[in-house]
Amino acid sequence: MTETKVLLPESALPDRWYNVAADMPNRPQPVLHPGTGQPVGPDDLAPLFPMELILQEVSEAPEVPIPEPVREILRLWRPTPLFRAHRLEQTLGTRSRIFYKYEGVSPAGSHKPNTAVAQAYYSKQEGRERLATETGAGQWGSALALACRLLGLECKVYMVKVSYHQKPYRRSMMETWGASVVASPSQETQAGRAILEANPDSPGSLGIAISEAVEDAAGREDTAYALGSVLNHVLLHQTVIGQEALAQMDLAGAFPDVVIGCVGGGSNFAGLAFPFIREKIGGKEIDVLACEPAACPTLTRGPFAYDFGDTGQLTPLVPMHTLGHDFVPAGIHAGGLRYHGVAPLISQLVLDGLVRAEAYAQNDVFASAVTFAGSEGIIPAPESAHAIHGAVLNAMAADDEGIERTILFNLSGHGHFDMAAYDDYLAGRLEDFALPEDEIQRALAAIEPLPKPA
Ligand SMILES: Cc1ncc(COP(=O)(O)O)c(C=O)c1O
Repeated sequence: MTETKVLLPESALPDRWYNVAADMPNRPQPVLHPGTGQPVGPDDLAPLFPMELILQEVSEAPEVPIPEPVREILRLWRPTPLFRAHRLEQTLGTRSRIFYKYEGVSPAGSHKPNTAVAQAYYSKQEGRERLATETGAGQWGSALALACRLLGLECKVYMVKVSYHQKPYRRSMMETWGASVVASPSQETQAGRAILEANPDSPGSLGIAISEAVEDAAGREDTAYALGSVLNHVLLHQTVIGQEALAQMDLAGAFPDVVIGCVGGGSNFAGLAFPFIREKIGGKEIDVLACEPAACPTLTRGPFAYDFGDTGQLTPLVPMHTLGHDFVPAGIHAGGLRYHGVAPLISQLVLDGLVRAEAYAQNDVFASAVTFAGSEGIIPAPESAHAIHGAVLNAMAADDEGIERTILFNLSGHGHFDMAAYDDYLAGRLEDFALPEDEIQRALAAIEPLPKPA
């Protein structure tokens, strides 16, 4: 029997990030300046991001070295364990083998610190003293608060209001690491005030919180903006996950037929999947599956289009699958998956048929989360539970077909701050939001005037 935990020594921590852009059959189309319709250049982005990250954003190099001070911090929790889910397999009665890479062992409880540390490092290197960001579920905000604390930077977090109230201890966690946290939409920015004027009860959304954080960073020279997902450099930083997983699967004497991750903006999915997509492009047969909520079905129901990354239309135009920048997803408990767009790199890979996507209802996802907790012990983040559900469905489908699969998924975080969600599920209070087609069409009308991808 394979070991339950496959562990790597610290010496096996990757020393390079993998850049999938170097190997993709079609590079993503350029990000456009909304005023001119022309591709944005480094100078357009310089007020918001340190130059090293801007260069990574457009890099075509297959590998980018990880600075030693970043690796030194990553060693606090990396390499993360890979588990063989023997007990889940037994509970399901499946013939398939299920493995999961567990990112919840980071101090903030998810994969997010992998990029937070890198972003804080480069910002500090280039003389910024403060970072501004948004957070949905609170995982990204916690990660950036941690990274800023460890590297000696100030941190300001605009936290989506529905999560701010659902998860008060995420705020305490960020404050313990010294960050200052405000519920978004807030009165602190023009973008926030405009939303509150139109809708005083707005639950907030990632799109709105991004507008607030971008406005904050653009208005202060000492401040850089940090984004927890979507951008190429963020996905790049997460590829330590998949590189480790490749080595661990090898140690376990296995290779996955299916690689699965949940997708909000796409960073944990990319982190696990991109190094495997390199293998797929190199000729290996792998089904790469992105799992999203039915209440925010960006990849399965949103068109591939140019759209703003935020609601306030402050960001450049990004070529991606989108539900429209003013789409406000229902208040599902997977707060980190409530984003109207998906990373351009992943959107392009979906267009090119290298990645496929499925959308799941909230109650089904929680049922799989509870099954997982009852067999493997770990209580998963509601976001990660989408990947668990994908793995469970995959194993059951293989059994129906009479075949055995090797399934690998990313368990991107634990759910210790999500117990209100579990309370609601266990009490039968969770609603499944069927998203009407006319709401999608209404939100997409807002992107009609924007340039179209080639
Ligand atoms: C545990 C966890 N998983 C997944 C996500 C979704 O983000 P991404 O798609 O960038 O991995 C989040 C976002 O907050 C998260 O907290």
